[in-house]
Amino acid sequence: MRNAKLLFICLLTLLSLTACYYDHEETLYGASSNQPCTDTVGTVSYMQKVVPVLQSSCYGCHTGASPSGNQLMGTYAADKAMAQSGKLLGTINHAAGFSPMPKGGAKLSSCRIATIKKWIDAGMLNN
Ligand code: HEC
Repeated sequence: MRNAKLLFICLLTLLSLTACYYDHEETLYGASSNQPCTDTVGTVSYMQKVVPVLQSSCYGCHTGASPSGNQLMGTYAADKAMAQSGKLLGTINHAAGFSPMPKGGAKLSSCRIATIKKWIDAGMLNN
C-alpha cells in the first residue's frame, strides 16, 4: 500500500516534469499552433526575432565561402537582399516556383513565417 502510494507520487512527478519540458520547447521554437504568436506583437526586430529564426534554420547552409545554391545569408545586407528578391518568403512559404526551404527540414511554423513576413512588410529595418 505504502509502495503503491510512493509509485503514484513518482509517476505524477515524472509526468509534470515531462510537461514542463514540453512547454519549454514550445516556447523556444514557437511551433505550437494553440499558443498565441507573441513574436508578431509590435515592431519585429531583425536582430531579436528574425536572425534567431534564420540562424537556426538557414545559416547552417547559407553562410561562408560557398553557401548552398550560391544563396548567401547571415548579414543584414544579404538577408535584406534575399527578402527584397521575394525568395526569402517564397522559399519558406513553399510557394510555387521556389525551392522549399529549409531544405530537407520541416516547414517553419506559421508563427515564424508571420514574424518574418511582418519584418519584410515593415520595410526590412536593421533594428
Ligand atoms: C540543409 C541545407 C539547407 C538549409 C538548412 C537551407 N537551405 Fe536554402 N538551399 C540549399 C540548397 C542545397 C539550395 C540549392 C538547391 C535548391 O534550390 O534546392 C538552396 C537554395 C536556396 C534558395 C534559392 C532557391 C530558389 O528557389 O531560388 C533560397 C532563396 C534559399 N535556399 C533560402 C533558404 C532559407 C530562407 C532557408 C531557411 C529557412 C534555407 N534556405 C535553408 C540548402 C539549404
